[in-house]
Amino acid sequence: MNILKFNSDEDFVQTGANLIASLLQSNPKAVLGLATGSSPVGVYAKLVEMHQKGLVSFSKATSFNLDEYIGLPVDHPQSYRSFMNEQLFNHIDIDPGQTHIPNGNAADMEAECLAYDKMLEENGPVDLQILGIGSNGHIGFNEPDVNLSSKTHVVDLLEDTREANARFFDSLDDVPRQAITMGIGGILKARQILLLVRGAGKAEAIRNAVEGPITTQCPASLLQSHPNVIVLVDEGAGKWLK
Ligand code: F6R
Repeated sequence: MNILKFNSDEDFVQTGANLIASLLQSNPKAVLGLATGSSPVGVYAKLVEMHQKGLVSFSKATSFNLDEYIGLPVDHPQSYRSFMNEQLFNHIDIDPGQTHIPNGNAADMEAECLAYDKMLEENGPVDLQILGIGSNGHIGFNEPDVNLSSKTHVVDLLEDTREANARFFDSLDDVPRQAITMGIGGILKARQILLLVRGAGKAEAIRNAVEGPITTQCPASLLQSHPNVIVLVDEGAGKWLK
């Protein structure tokens, strides 16, 4: 694992954006694995800025998002489709037909999980997977558990995850109880992984993930088994790293 610690927010987002932009410059048809949440927001904003300056094009790229809430209308402001449109897709030249997000409103969720993995298989592997980490160590919505699923699956969100995400909703009751998420096996198939970690609230999670044992109780610790992981941490998140 390559861990880079930043004092400056600007350097953090520029480094993340440069990694993605240089991949697209060398391979315009790159397959990007994307995450939502607050961690990648600055990097997406920087990519939009770089695109507007003519420094990066997404016109031939394909993207796959990690996850989506179940039962939230796709045009709900907190659906991950709305998030991606607002934070990135609406401001760059990616072909909307090449952006994939699991369908959290599919009539048959089991079939949707299989179909998503099939699409990943046909278009993959993902060249660069962007990840955030939950304060409980989750990646995607792979929550700490005795067993972790390898494939895309439906997950019951833990209360601490719902509470962490309640800041985006009117009340905790409005936060969906389930999500569809790529599994750990799917995430680890990416050629390269870029983990973005910001804020003191993530200090314990990232220490456990990179310095602790590999355990399903900290799903992000499984990233230690991947040969090509870059972790960007800010001062707060990195305060307990050796
Ligand atoms: C989002 C996702 C989640 C988040 C994690 C951190 O697509 O898969 O694993 O990356 O919950 O969320 P933030 O960045 O909001 O702290």
